[in-house]
Amino acid sequence: MRIERVDASAVRPLRHKVLRPGQPFSTTRLDKDNDPETVHFALFSEVNIISIATVYPENMDVDYSKKGYRLRGMATDTEKQGFGYGTKLLDECVRYLKNELNADCLWCNARESAFGFYEKFGFNIVGEMFEIKNIGLHKKGIYHITT
Ligand SMILES: CC(C)(COP(=O)(O)OP(=O)(O)OC[C@H]1O[C@@H](n2cnc3c(N)ncnc32)[C@H](O)[C@@H]1OP(=O)(O)O)[C@@H](O)C(=O)NCCC(=O)NCCS
Repeated sequence: MRIERVDASAVRPLRHKVLRPGQPFSTTRLDKDNDPETVHFALFSEVNIISIATVYPENMDVDYSKKGYRLRGMATDTEKQGFGYGTKLLDECVRYLKNELNADCLWCNARESAFGFYEKFGFNIVGEMFEIKNIGLHKKGIYHITT
């Protein structure tokens, strides 16, 4: 098992399978996928990618942070969920954001079904519930990166 930084093209198939099943492949493209400051992390088991996450600089609407990063496309392959891979990958994201980028917060729009995962990791789930079309109910999740 290893974690690597990869191109957007490497994470899109798993985004499609886990996060956008039944929707056009084009829905897996994020506007900032190819920005120079965007980082895509992938956890591999041999040659297969089993967990993915993407981060890029963006402050949350509420000014919680001086240097915020946004988490997108967090997913673990359906058959591999619940084995700790998502946590390992997110640990590596946070380590990278802290040590390499001096970030002080990581936030996301968390799906209602994933609140438990984020809370276990240490995110605070905050604010009003809101709907994202074709995906479902969400709240903001925020993780304060300690120095
Ligand atoms: C959410 C997701 C990324 C978690 O990845 P994972 O590899 O399954 O997570 P882990 O195995 O590291 O789980 C860590 C802990 O969180 C718990 N957990 C994982 N998913 C959970 C969920 N949806 N609800 C509640 N708890 C959850 C696990 O049981 C585990 O707890 P434990 O340490 O007591 O065993 C993964 O389940 C997934 O891809 N879900 C579908 C896509 C999705 O919703 N992504 C988030 C979009 S905002």
